[in-house]
Amino acid sequence: MKVLINDKIENHGIRVFEEAGIKTDTQRRDLNSLIADIAQFDALIVRSTTKVTREVLEAGTKGKLKIVGRAGVGYDNIDIVAATENGIVVKCAQLGNINAVAELALSLMLSISRNIPQTHLSLKQGIWKKEDFNGTELSNKTLGIIGCGKIGQRLAQIARHSFGMKTIGYDICPCFDTGINFMSKEEVLTKADYVSIHTGGKDIIMSEKELLLMKPTAYLINTSRGCNVDEKALYQTLKKRRIAGTALDVYTKEPTVEGTKFKNKLRKLDNVIFTSHLGASTIEAQRATSTEIAQVVLDYLLGGDFTNAVNVGETIELEENPVHALFIHHRDIPGVFASIDKVLTDNKVNIRTIYSRQIGTGFAIAVYLLHQKVDPEILKTLKKNENISSVRA
Ligand code: 3PG
Repeated sequence: MKVLINDKIENHGIRVFEEAGIKTDTQRRDLNSLIADIAQFDALIVRSTTKVTREVLEAGTKGKLKIVGRAGVGYDNIDIVAATENGIVVKCAQLGNINAVAELALSLMLSISRNIPQTHLSLKQGIWKKEDFNGTELSNKTLGIIGCGKIGQRLAQIARHSFGMKTIGYDICPCFDTGINFMSKEEVLTKADYVSIHTGGKDIIMSEKELLLMKPTAYLINTSRGCNVDEKALYQTLKKRRIAGTALDVYTKEPTVEGTKFKNKLRKLDNVIFTSHLGASTIEAQRATSTEIAQVVLDYLLGGDFTNAVNVGETIELEENPVHALFIHHRDIPGVFASIDKVLTDNKVNIRTIYSRQIGTGFAIAVYLLHQKVDPEILKTLKKNENISSVRA
């Protein structure tokens, strides 16, 4: 088996594949070369830079490609619809980045509140300035979190415990044991001194309407996805000083080649600070993320495990259909599955999945997961099979 790692990941992840005897290719390909070469790989690993388009996925499915692993949490650079249509599983690394992104959001809150990038730039240019850089404090202020998943919750925890901030939030699925006071998005925006976005996805979360709900003294922090904020509306809002400022790590258009120009109109404004999509860029997060994605991709390639999958249910229960289990103890010899399948197929019973393990010597226990209850007559037919010792529903 062979894995193409098209964006730079940390060596720990690469080693996970190599120790399992799987070859890795870390040569970065542009879109055309990716389309040309992808068919020879069983898996493709990317971060946010490589765009995994329909063309890439369709070229892959004509060959060996089975899975795309996103070494991070946001998978908006992967055409999920095309992957699903082509039977390619997409997995992400859900845990490795949590702390790194939360800490960056907090750093941006501190930096913009105290004008740290501005004073740094001024001193680098050899100019001593104090009067322009009077700041504000985080302590006792209100942090509004839009999207309260694992990253949002971690940020809330640090902000509460370290700065005594009040944490309020909005999420389509609020969870109530997080210390975040949940309310409507509009209420969060009107009450917060800092609004931090952690929704991911491709939707605009902050259009002109939402931006204008924010207090004129409030700051907007975006470490989620550039497309979550309407950049044109943000430019106007900042220019007219309708909010105090913004700190951005992500943009609607991000360069894909290291060292190239960053073109963005927001650069003209002095109440904006920038980082270059660095949310996950810590030694700790890169190590954790690369290992996590390599492991879950490997588990799929070698064992059909769906953990961390984003376009199929991680477990069969998540398919949201009733599941009925059938336990069959049988001889571990060729042909038994075929004979069970025939009985179920003849009776129009759809098999969703089979788990099977050897039990004792020469026997196996198979657990069939089905979408319907099995009629007692079918059980009787199965029990008549001389290679089956028991059938339990
Ligand atoms: C993520 O979605 O995990 C972050 O945005 C990090 O993206 P990166 O791995 O390309 O730095």
